Amino acid sequence: MRGGVFGLLCGALLLPGSKSTKWVLRRAGDSDYACKCYPGDNCWPNKGQWQKLNNTVGGNLRVNIPPGAPCYNTFQGLLGNVLQTYNAAGCQKVRQNWGDEQFQIEMPAAGLWTYFTNDTCRPTTNPTDTCTPGYYPVLVIMAKTTAHIQAGINFARENNLRLIIRNTGHDFLGRSVGWGALVINTHSFQDIKFTDSWEGAGNYTGPAVTVGAGVQAFQVLKKANALNPPKIMVTGECATVGVAGGLVQGGGHGPLTGFYGFVADNALEFKVITADGKLNTANAETNADLFWALRGGGPAAFAVIVEASYRIFDDKPTAGVLLDIDQTHMTNATLFWEAVRVFHSYSTHFVDNDLYVYYELGTAGQNLHVHPIVGVGKTPDELQAVLQPMFDDLDALGISYYTTGAADFPTFYDLYQAMFETEVAGNSALTGGWTIARQDAEERHEAIISAFQTVVRAGSFMIGHMWSAGHGLPEERWAESSVNPRFRSVVDKLITVVPVAGNAPLADKAAAQDTLTNVVDAALREASPNGCAYVNEADPYEPNWQQAFWGDNYPRLLEIRKKYDPDGVFYAISTPGTENWEQIETGTRLCRKL
Ligand SMILES: Cc1cc2nc3c(=O)[nH]c(=O)nc-3n(C[C@H](O)[C@H](O)[C@H](O)COP(=O)(O)OP(=O)(O)OC[C@H]3O[C@@H](n4cnc5c(N)ncnc54)[C@H](O)[C@@H]3O)c2cc1C
Ligand SMILES: *[C@@H]1O[C@H](CO)[C@@H](O)[C@H](O)[C@H]1NC(C)=O
Ligand SMILES: *[C@@H]1O[C@H](CO)[C@@H](O)[C@H](O)[C@H]1NC(C)=O
Ligand SMILES: *[C@@H]1O[C@H](CO)[C@@H](O)[C@H](O)[C@H]1NC(C)=O
Ligand SMILES: *[C@@H]1O[C@H](CO)[C@@H](O)[C@H](O)[C@H]1NC(C)=O
Repeated sequence: MRGGVFGLLCGALLLPGSKSTKWVLRRAGDSDYACKCYPGDNCWPNKGQWQKLNNTVGGNLRVNIPPGAPCYNTFQGLLGNVLQTYNAAGCQKVRQNWGDEQFQIEMPAAGLWTYFTNDTCRPTTNPTDTCTPGYYPVLVIMAKTTAHIQAGINFARENNLRLIIRNTGHDFLGRSVGWGALVINTHSFQDIKFTDSWEGAGNYTGPAVTVGAGVQAFQVLKKANALNPPKIMVTGECATVGVAGGLVQGGGHGPLTGFYGFVADNALEFKVITADGKLNTANAETNADLFWALRGGGPAAFAVIVEASYRIFDDKPTAGVLLDIDQTHMTNATLFWEAVRVFHSYSTHFVDNDLYVYYELGTAGQNLHVHPIVGVGKTPDELQAVLQPMFDDLDALGISYYTTGAADFPTFYDLYQAMFETEVAGNSALTGGWTIARQDAEERHEAIISAFQTVVRAGSFMIGHMWSAGHGLPEERWAESSVNPRFRSVVDKLITVVPVAGNAPLADKAAAQDTLTNVVDAALREASPNGCAYVNEADPYEPNWQQAFWGDNYPRLLEIRKKYDPDGVFYAISTPGTENWEQIETGTRLCRKL
């Protein structure tokens, strides 16, 4: 192994196409790498440089201390030990709120899925345990102004630091945390402004909203609902996800996707900071290539969004139904899978009738939890009529189930408040996913159900979302976003979840990753060869990710990445242009393979 010698060098190396000389040379396996600068490296900025940055960002630079640190005497950070972190009241608070999404969101740099922080420094009752950094970032700029974001990007670029943009920390692929990184936290960008008629670029002149980068779905939906008449916009199903961060850059699907497409399809304009530190506008007329890329081309790949504008719509009366089939209703496994087959055979029927169906399969073994089925613009009778053929089929097979009658709500927003279940933070798991194409749902349904069985048998479970992103959005608008064109004929979008402890032995983690990639998701890919994968809810190591996430749009996205971020100031795994980047040394140093 030559690694030892190489590993100590902090070389002045000029990479092709890179203006930075600050690369740390490392060797791993049989390859040489040029890595970003980390604490302890010669190229890591000195105290004076950090202090200068802190002054530029108005004193909003913080050493990142993991949320669980108040339960420990000492945090052994990469920048040195932080003594006396223990605080009984603080510890009590973090223990009580560990699973609370908003609590974790408001931490400077926590990840809601602890797998990606390496599950280190969890709340404990033993303060003499060690709070270690795991994959938590080291420093955070709690940005309050555009200038703070610019200063952070410039500092990271000039010093070749690992830079992470952190909004809510929801990321399923761990893209908002990272070892040794400098974070720019955008949570303070909370402006929400409505207009009755959009006057900016493009041909759209209807109502719109402009939101700051930190705004979450529940905030904007609540304000939109208070307008007269009540308005609605496309957001994720989850109320706490941000609407102008990772969501839109990955696409962003939700209960209204069958009507209006993705969040990205409804974007009118972004104010962004590009990798050169400049404030830019991206819309249909100015930087149109960047505008297109930001609409689904992958988070943290092209620019930092500081503000986004979206179309909004009149809300409508809405009906909803719940359905459960589990072991309290039947224990016969054969019959249970018959029930799943019947339910799922209606996916095309549901999306063709404007429904959105959110379901979980296998969370508690043999169970199908459909919470809720949503009929926007439908009366309860109309919704029940769409569902009746499925209920008739279930009845004919003698399957027992629990269902509510269709409930009636004055608006979709009221249903959203009442019928969607809240989600929790603080759990560790690997997530993946795939989508079911209409053609495959029609022609290969038996194979799809047997793939579902493979998923559940592997100890995994699934979250399904039935919508079609090409159903309501006119075809001439599909290419306005850079999401995989295959999404327009999807009828069910699946998330797969493989539970694994964030502090499990490395061999167990590797086994879980193998199960996700090569058993669970492999079964779904094979069952729906015309499907695709959603970059925000996917295996970080999705095979052939360029094709899976973006299909025919990939080559253009790659060109746009090279144009706007040639040196790799931004990074998120499996996004355009990251082919040669790797996190070596057990997921720590981010490096370019030489
Ligand atoms: C419980 C749960 C439910 C979900 N439900 C849905 C759903 O219904 N529909 C859906 O489409 N997705 C859903 N998602 C996935 C969601 O789209 C992603 O987790 C998304 O990345 C979250 O974006 P964020 O900005 O809120 O989070 P973060 O984790 O803070 O950021 C995610 C990524 O975006 C980057 N980023 C954040 N802000 C900016 C910015 N201003 N500029 C540039 N890059 C930025 C980050 O660097 C990171 O790479 C869900 C996730 C969870 C955990
Ligand atoms: C940045 O400045 C503020 C205000 O003076 C200070 O509280 C904070 O500790 C400084 N941050 C760092 C990392 O030194
Ligand atoms: C992360 O956890 C694994 C065990 O799962 C451990 O081997 C590794 O050293 C940890 N890495 C860091 C940076 O904490
Ligand atoms: C606006 O509409 C005109 C005429 O239909 C069309 O040619 C043009 O491409 C549209 N512009 C945008 C930005 O969509
Ligand atoms: C389970 O259901 C299947 C399908 O209806 C049936 O053939 C089988 O006899 C049932 N098994 C038991 C033990 O009831």
